Amino acid sequence: MSPQPQAAVGAPLSRVDGRLKVTGKALYAAEHDVDGAVHAVIVDASIGRGRITSIGTRDAEKHPGVLRVISHRNAPKLPYRDNSGSNNPPGRRLRVFQDDRVLFHGQPVAVVVATTLEAAQHGASLVEVEYDAEQPSTDLHEGKPGEPTAYARGDADAGLRDATVRLDLTYELARNHHNPMEPHATIARWDGNKLTVWDKTQWVMGTHDEIAAVFDLPADAVRVINPFVGGGFGSGLRCWPHTIVAAIAARETKRPVKLVLSRRQMYFGTGFRPSYEYRLRLGSDRRGRLTAAIHDIDAETSTYETFTEGVMAPGQMLYSTPHVSQTYRQVPLDVNTPIWMRGPGFASASFVIESAMDELAHKIGIDPIELRRRNEPSEDEAKNLPFSTRRLRECYTIGAREFGWNRRNPKPRSTRDGNWLIGLGMAAGVYDPGRFPAEARARLDADGTAVVETATSDMGPGTYTSQTQIAADALGLTMRTVTFKLGDSLYPPTGPHGGSATMASVGSAVVDACNQVRNQAIKLAVEDRESPLYGVDAADVVVRGGRLHVQGTPARGETYQRLLARHNRSHLEARGSYTGPPTPERESYAAYNATFAEVAVDATLGLVRVRRMLGVYDAGRIISPKLADSQAIGGIVGGIGTALLEHTVTDHRDGRIVNANLADYLVPVNADVPEVRAIYLDGEDNAGNALGVKGLGEVVQVGVAAAIGNAVFNATGRRIRELPITAEALL
Ligand code: MOS
Repeated sequence: MSPQPQAAVGAPLSRVDGRLKVTGKALYAAEHDVDGAVHAVIVDASIGRGRITSIGTRDAEKHPGVLRVISHRNAPKLPYRDNSGSNNPPGRRLRVFQDDRVLFHGQPVAVVVATTLEAAQHGASLVEVEYDAEQPSTDLHEGKPGEPTAYARGDADAGLRDATVRLDLTYELARNHHNPMEPHATIARWDGNKLTVWDKTQWVMGTHDEIAAVFDLPADAVRVINPFVGGGFGSGLRCWPHTIVAAIAARETKRPVKLVLSRRQMYFGTGFRPSYEYRLRLGSDRRGRLTAAIHDIDAETSTYETFTEGVMAPGQMLYSTPHVSQTYRQVPLDVNTPIWMRGPGFASASFVIESAMDELAHKIGIDPIELRRRNEPSEDEAKNLPFSTRRLRECYTIGAREFGWNRRNPKPRSTRDGNWLIGLGMAAGVYDPGRFPAEARARLDADGTAVVETATSDMGPGTYTSQTQIAADALGLTMRTVTFKLGDSLYPPTGPHGGSATMASVGSAVVDACNQVRNQAIKLAVEDRESPLYGVDAADVVVRGGRLHVQGTPARGETYQRLLARHNRSHLEARGSYTGPPTPERESYAAYNATFAEVAVDATLGLVRVRRMLGVYDAGRIISPKLADSQAIGGIVGGIGTALLEHTVTDHRDGRIVNANLADYLVPVNADVPEVRAIYLDGEDNAGNALGVKGLGEVVQVGVAAAIGNAVFNATGRRIRELPITAEALL
């Protein structure tokens, strides 16, 4: 078949929804105008563990505008049908208002519904909850770990014993919160037994299925709508309790209810990147060839669900290591359940492994890049599979050249700029992208325009734009004649919009649907005596700008419009699908990067300023270069946060998060973000998706914190094994 021309894919286009966003016409969850909507405000628990002994609602109920106060005392008992399929971790999810137990500080204990937001807020402040409080356990180091998940190959203890060089390092990683700009919010409306929710979610169908399970509703009784998501970073990957609270409140008051979490409530109303204690023992020969690695990983989870993420994977496949053993234990604490956050698991593990590799290089006295080259595996040693593509060596070469790595003095604390100590550091990154089943519907109308629909989300990476590019090229249409629709559970289902899976998964379904429509049109033409394409081999017909023509002979052809008009067809339509990667997998498929950082550290005050960052990405084909740059910059900014600023602090006396606001929880601001540059290796990776992509959104944050930490070491000679790296630690 002639290759369909690619005009939109690969072009540095601006967002198709950019104008809607900057003019305020893009509606986020809480902004939908739902007739008769009233407001709900959650009352959250002020103890870290215990029981509710009484709830005084009289003052709240008397407050003008307050319609109802709902708590476990008067809430309906809900079915909470079993549902592990919507990213609910193993356990017994939090069942709102079903009993008097308080499982963590901030748990919803009541909701006040009122005609205005102000009345609901004031009403919530008037609810008097009394508790029988118990001492919560919120400190990772004090908790009792669960049974480990283990991995082993070879004999790691023996490998470590026989090593010439040994390191035994323990790292502490702070809890991070996603802090998307848009707060989580839900509007819920019942029409009889049918429920519609406008909800901030990264997984339309997951939220749909969870709501159906909680209320035991048939699938077609629930509709989830979210055309725009104002940032997620993983915080929207499952349905949280407040969405259920909104639906309960709407049902009890028989009014549409709008519920927006406050910024403070976002710190316990949605998940977070869990804190870790990670001990890594590394052994190598004199030349730095790894002989053994022992990883002992503890991470926090809640008492009611066991959350896990891909923290074990990098230790199994990033470097050639004959002897590896790993344990990964979840420590149940009186906290709400964590969730994946950008580069989940991999970003945490990479800080540890990549910092340790830097220590090893320093100890042996070789260049950190050379150390990594010496340990480059020839296959995935955990899966025993060849790599589909793995081009880390090229990332190192290009990165070193473009960043000026040869200017790095390997001797720490040897480069100064006035009172600033200057350091360069680098790290490798890896992320194993998700690939989820997805469906899409494409319809070509008689006027020559097309609509493509899938139930995915766009939390900000530019899915509207990139999917329009893919669809436009597959249909042979211009960008402006294709409308891509998402964010509605009535559209064909997809998996979560996360895990770097959307481009490969949804994109493949979109290509499939659009290819089918294009081929229907080509078939109509070549079998039609009245068409200039009559009798041409269908494989020799391409479509460009809405016009079908013979490959290489543009003059011979006709437009979609003419063709459909002659056949009296209002439209052509097809449903496409992507079924996931081949099983069993035949290749190890992952995205990689080499990330470089230059920092300046104030010699007196210990302040760290990042001066330059470069990421070189082996991420497969880049569909949308301009949006890819946004992803890379965003991931690096997130990594700067993890490295230097972000730290959710809990008061272990009562389980309260003390910095649950954007003044005290520090995120990078413009002044913290230096020159950031991204380079993408050319090429495709066709292991299991038609587009040749590997996914970019997660890998861009992996390795960033280690690159910065390694630069701090190069600048100061101080090795900080605790995130974030603070001025206090460097004094
Ligand atoms: Mo990403 S952590 O799957 O939003």
